[in-house]
Amino acid sequence: MKIKPFKIEEWMNKYEHIAKYDMTTTCIKSFTLREFFEITKENFDKILDKPLDYGDITGSQRLKYNASKLYQQKDENNITVTLGAIGANYLVFLSLIEKGDEVTVIIPTYQQHYSVPEQLGAKIRFVKLRSDLKWHIDIEELERAVTPKTKLIIFSNPNNPCGTVFSDDELKKIVEIARKNDAYILCDEVYRYLNHVNNIQKSIADLYEKGISTFSMSKTFSLAGVRVGIICGGKRIIRRINRHRQYNTISISALDDYIAAIALENKDTIIDRNLKLVMEGRENLLNWIKKERKVSISNLEGGTTAFIGYEDSKNSYDYCLELFRQTGVLLLPGDAMDFPKHFRLGFCGNQADFKEGLIKFSGWLRDTV
Ligand SMILES: Cc1ncc(COP(=O)(O)O)c(C=O)c1O
Repeated sequence: MKIKPFKIEEWMNKYEHIAKYDMTTTCIKSFTLREFFEITKENFDKILDKPLDYGDITGSQRLKYNASKLYQQKDENNITVTLGAIGANYLVFLSLIEKGDEVTVIIPTYQQHYSVPEQLGAKIRFVKLRSDLKWHIDIEELERAVTPKTKLIIFSNPNNPCGTVFSDDELKKIVEIARKNDAYILCDEVYRYLNHVNNIQKSIADLYEKGISTFSMSKTFSLAGVRVGIICGGKRIIRRINRHRQYNTISISALDDYIAAIALENKDTIIDRNLKLVMEGRENLLNWIKKERKVSISNLEGGTTAFIGYEDSKNSYDYCLELFRQTGVLLLPGDAMDFPKHFRLGFCGNQADFKEGLIKFSGWLRDTV
């Protein structure tokens, strides 16, 4: 079965490890195991007694219970755990989408959200976040793009790459449109709890009976090496997903399960640490961009990335490649997210390197562009 190349992954795999100033990352400074056990005050020795068996097949009770507390009035039967959010999204698509289904996707977004449904035979309709609407959508456009044939509406909230946070009112309207057409909603919430102002964000799983939330340890918890994803949804859909899951997961790593359970018990402490890092990066980015005339940002409300437009005739691959070769600054071309004339910039890496990279970027803008 053919599938389109995952352009972000191809770009990052090629250049990320040789970049002096890597601004492609969407992660916040990752924990080492030592830092993790220090901040959570857990006894590391307990891990030494963990049997390395399959563990509980759909995730330990402790992990599923803690994950269910991310949502309102949900229990372990509303949760299944997966190999990262990428595994979570994949399982949702596999469980729901059949050839000929219509799927509506709000873009730009993680390419998996449309390339996998397309591979499964869905007809994709796109609704664009618009820079003139501060990277929000025209809700009437969404209304036109959803029909009784629509199986699923997909978006990320906060959005990767634009940093859009959908307001309660927007979420309500999206749910109304879905309900009217009896469509599911998959909201990829891997950047949840990283809003830059008013850090309360409702989950789609709490707003809609056919709402499915995917989440993971990678962004909000700085534990991308712990390959734990979470799906939260209605009990029937979780049962259906688990039937597919048996064929491609069995169980997740027992060690990952254990660490993720501890992370969730220390949610507030970890989010506090991470939100400070996000806000520091955001401030450094906004201070820089204020002084640059050849790049522009129209909004930044949540998450770890900004989507930035540039003034230049080059396409975004050539723009990013030239910048990278001349300065060591690595950005993600907008075309890798099927959105030209922009680049994605992750601002939550090491801040000393980030600030130095921005100075190099300014020099390049001044001398070259
Ligand atoms: C929107 C979005 N969804 C899913 C993923 C995959 O996350 P995970 O590491 O949990 O598989 C990413 C990774 O960058 C992402 O940005």
